[in-house]
Amino acid sequence: MSLKNVRLEVMQFLEKDVDALIEKYLIPIDTIWQPTDFLPNSEGKDEAFFEEIKEIRELAKELPYDFWVVLVGDMITEEALPTYESWLMDVEGVDQVGEGGNGWSKWVKQWTAEENRHGDVLNKYLYLSGRVNMKEVEKTTQHLIADGFDIGTDRDPYKNFVYTSFQELATYISHNRVAKIAKSKGNKRLAKMCQIISGDEMRHHHAYSEFIERIFEVDPNQMMMAFYYMMKQKITMPAHFLRESGGKIGTAFEEFSNTAQRIGVYTSRDYVEILEKLIARWKIDTITNLDDDAEKARDYLMKLPQRMYRLADRMKIPENSYQFKWVEPAVSK
Ligand SMILES: [Fe+2]
Ligand SMILES: [Fe+2]
Repeated sequence: MSLKNVRLEVMQFLEKDVDALIEKYLIPIDTIWQPTDFLPNSEGKDEAFFEEIKEIRELAKELPYDFWVVLVGDMITEEALPTYESWLMDVEGVDQVGEGGNGWSKWVKQWTAEENRHGDVLNKYLYLSGRVNMKEVEKTTQHLIADGFDIGTDRDPYKNFVYTSFQELATYISHNRVAKIAKSKGNKRLAKMCQIISGDEMRHHHAYSEFIERIFEVDPNQMMMAFYYMMKQKITMPAHFLRESGGKIGTAFEEFSNTAQRIGVYTSRDYVEILEKLIARWKIDTITNLDDDAEKARDYLMKLPQRMYRLADRMKIPENSYQFKWVEPAVSK
């Protein structure tokens, strides 16, 4: 049987548990938080509404230029959700056609519905903050969706679930750090918002990691090879094609990523720590009965964090901020 057929069989085998996994890891729509829980109530009295907006704008002044760049980049990454949903719908074993689609497509749809609130709440907050050039931000979002992405996973469910396990943890870290910075500047509203988003990301991370655990149980050799392959080629960030208006595809990504490193929201050490967490979570060191190739892949994976820490420590981040079109320099600290 071809590798592709085995993967399909494994996906079908695991599909019977998807409903239970949805129940375990996703929260029913009527009870989960919504963006409006963290935003001024526009249906309320004029005065109260305007007071809250005034407060949002005042507190926003306390946060520095690089912070806004990172928050904008994080928001745009969330807003490119159509790209992620369409990518995942195309993975082998996911099928949305037919009555309600198959179990895996149900997962993708309900995961997307949860994720959709992230870009939504951040977008509304940024609009109210008065600190960013929303039209430029909107153009970048549209560009990013139009440019799509290629994360090197093909349609392979194993590789895609490695990718999502990694990325959900990466977004947990960055939203969580943003929340901490906001809190340190007295911005409780923004801190709560980012904190609750990071909670969603953590839940999603646990879900995708469990998918991988289950695949390891039934197809350890190929699962090991897929993990190896993804880490060897490195996990590309979902916004790697980021550009500003008038810019070439991908040209804004490096500066965005430098900015996030500079303020400690997401660093190259974080990348390695995520890798270590995945290795520990999937108990890579104790998986037995592997074939030769998978054994070699396991060896490579086990040694990779130490090698990557050495590289990460040597990395130099530019000290000066890069001027994006998204955030006005005049009011920046
Ligand atoms: Fe998200
Ligand atoms: Fe996420």
